Amino acid sequence: MVKIAPSILSADFANLGKEIKALEQAGADMIHIDVMDGHYVPNLTFGAGVVKALRAYTTLPFDVHLMVTEPDKMIPWFAKAGADIITVHLETSPHLDKILMSIKDYGLKAGVSLNPSTPEEGLKYILDRLDQILVMSVNPGFGGQSFIDSQLEKISNIKQMIGDRAIEIEVDGGINPLTAAECIAAGADILVAGSSIFVGGEYQKNINNLR
Ligand code: DX5
Ligand code: ZN
Repeated sequence: MVKIAPSILSADFANLGKEIKALEQAGADMIHIDVMDGHYVPNLTFGAGVVKALRAYTTLPFDVHLMVTEPDKMIPWFAKAGADIITVHLETSPHLDKILMSIKDYGLKAGVSLNPSTPEEGLKYILDRLDQILVMSVNPGFGGQSFIDSQLEKISNIKQMIGDRAIEIEVDGGINPLTAAECIAAGADILVAGSSIFVGGEYQKNINNLR
């Protein structure tokens, strides 16, 4: 069954600990933490200190999505703060292979994310270092945007590239019950959702609707 990773970008920032507990009780498989530095994307969100403070509120894996210009600098911070998975953007470094090795050196799962305009071919020589591939189905920076349909083809192409490797495909942005079904059909293993999980406050019902 598809895994659901609620993005706390849509949570009540004044009550993050409580929100994370509620998501765990509602059946979330992991907590997706969108780290934005105000440079790589215009928005600014959580630092490692926030992640460290949240660690006590759940045993669910922390899926940290780094939308930052200098991911190599920040990997040690988030690893020590309690991340379980760290995903970096393919567009942010010419030394991706090295960055992935440093994530693995901390004993964590390593992921790479592709913006909507980034072709999947860049994944070819790093596949054996990856635990997950994050397909951005909106331009990163903000929640509540519409799903970009062209990314469905990218998901199926990546599924083919992966072959029998144990790599999970995660899709992030504009996920609702309709686009969730399309992503699952194309080969997605994990769905990230903010708006469609937090809307109306019925987290369990909203998570089940996505599955
Ligand atoms: C966008 C973030 C997403 C975002 C998804 O830059 O990476 O995780 O929170 O939000 P929705 O589900 O509202 O599109
Ligand atoms: Zn994200």
